Amino acid sequence: MALFKKKAEEMPQFDVLPAHVAIIMDGNGRWAKKRGLPRTAGHVTGAKVFRTIVKHCEARGVGYVTVYAFSTENWKRPPEEVQAIMNLLRDYLKESLRDFKKENIRVRFLGDRAPLAEDIRDLIEEAEKSTADKDGMCLNIALNYGGRHELTAAMREMAKKVQAGELSPDDITEEIISQHLYTAGQPDPDLIVRPSGEHRLSNYLIWQAAYAEYVFMDDILWPDFTTADMDAALAEYARRNRRFGGV
Ligand code: IPE
Ligand code: IPE
Ligand code: MG
Repeated sequence: MALFKKKAEEMPQFDVLPAHVAIIMDGNGRWAKKRGLPRTAGHVTGAKVFRTIVKHCEARGVGYVTVYAFSTENWKRPPEEVQAIMNLLRDYLKESLRDFKKENIRVRFLGDRAPLAEDIRDLIEEAEKSTADKDGMCLNIALNYGGRHELTAAMREMAKKVQAGELSPDDITEEIISQHLYTAGQPDPDLIVRPSGEHRLSNYLIWQAAYAEYVFMDDILWPDFTTADMDAALAEYARRNRRFGGV
């Protein structure tokens, strides 16, 4: 912690810092292919970069970081690749459960846990429980996450409440909908960063991203992403003029 604090002081300051940064960690497969390696090698390096960038955002003073680790659509990939990603996640969780004690990060998982392996579900619960009281940066890991799935579940939940007489249809507001999402109580992402050249959301935070600023970094694949690239995205964000429909 102290080390990162010291480093942060030495770093350039930004005029405006996003409260919530969401990252689409993309390009692992292409990175590996370029090197003649199996796609899973890209995920291994990508997982290391994820650790570095999360710590960097914390040092910078970002309040919320959300990373896209696995989408509801990623099950379409070959089973070996899905397995490799799940194994990396398992390793991260085991390692983090030791490290979390020293850190001040609150960890939350966004997505449908039901189809995940039982031991991963247990690790997720343990990670959330053991960090729930931390008051530092909040790290959201979007895992088996899909924006449409999230909205569908929210609508179903609200419909059940209406049916039970706990909620009136006239009381359904934008705020009430937000409260039924995985990100309930959190600020919407201000900045969405996607390396690798794809200019799309891929079903990521579709409700929450309504007024986010997008920074697409075309010349970089996630396993090559550095703290300097993160700073470049933060600097670009600071230059944006956000109007939210006003003047
Ligand atoms: C992102 O990298 C990681 C996950 C989706 C899990 P990709 O695996 O999508 O890499 P590309 O886009 O095929 O290069
Ligand atoms: C989005 O990347 C999901 C994650 C980064 C976890 P994809 O690589 O799955 O997205 P598409 O298929 O290019 O839209
Ligand atoms: Mg991809």
